[in-house]
Amino acid sequence: MKKQKQDYYYWEAKKKGYRSRAAFKLLQMNKEFKLIKENNWVLDLGSSPGGWSQVAVELGAKVVAVDLNPMKPIEGVEFIRGDITKEETVQKIKEIRDSFDVVICDASPKITGKWTIDHLLSIDLAKAAFNIAKLFLKRNGCFVVKVFQGEEIQKLFNEFKPYFRFKKFHSPKASRKRSAEVYFIGKGFKKLL
Ligand SMILES: C[S@@+](CC[C@H](N)C(=O)[O-])C[C@H]1O[C@@H](n2cnc3c(N)ncnc32)[C@H](O)[C@@H]1O
Repeated sequence: MKKQKQDYYYWEAKKKGYRSRAAFKLLQMNKEFKLIKENNWVLDLGSSPGGWSQVAVELGAKVVAVDLNPMKPIEGVEFIRGDITKEETVQKIKEIRDSFDVVICDASPKITGKWTIDHLLSIDLAKAAFNIAKLFLKRNGCFVVKVFQGEEIQKLFNEFKPYFRFKKFHSPKASRKRSAEVYFIGKGFKKLL
């Protein structure tokens, strides 16, 4: 664990004041896919400790962030403590805002170490994030969601596919080499019924 922690991005995050090494994943994806623009409204699902929210604010966005765990305040971020799989959380988001330019989700299940179980738990979270995205994303909006690879991933892609003009799975350089995680990137959201 200690050795893993001391990788390049861990130290870079410390140096640059980011709360997580994950911040670099969003920075890299944003550079490549141009997801977050100035004055955008961003919904950050599974946000704690707050690295992605920090990056979104730096890019000039206003952020609503949601997590099961607490998150220390960040200027420009409204935080909701809640479960993204629960309807009451959707209601709390609605009370703040009913539409967003970008929905990002880096939520991870509690890792069991069993590849298939972790994969299926992450699929459930990705679907919960997508259900929220469908409710809140503006037309042409962007959606980014983490998922652990496994046999259900193609089915998930097929479910997401009709809703976006541009869609792909992507693995940012800052993801650890042996990590099972990939990110679905969807751009040009279509409001389908
Ligand atoms: C890898 S961390 C996110 C790191 C974050 N992107 C950052 O840069 O700081 C994953 C987060 O997902 C959250 N999470 C997992 N399941 C969740 C759920 N059902 N609802 C809300 N948050 C959840 C966890 O509490 C955890 O804080």
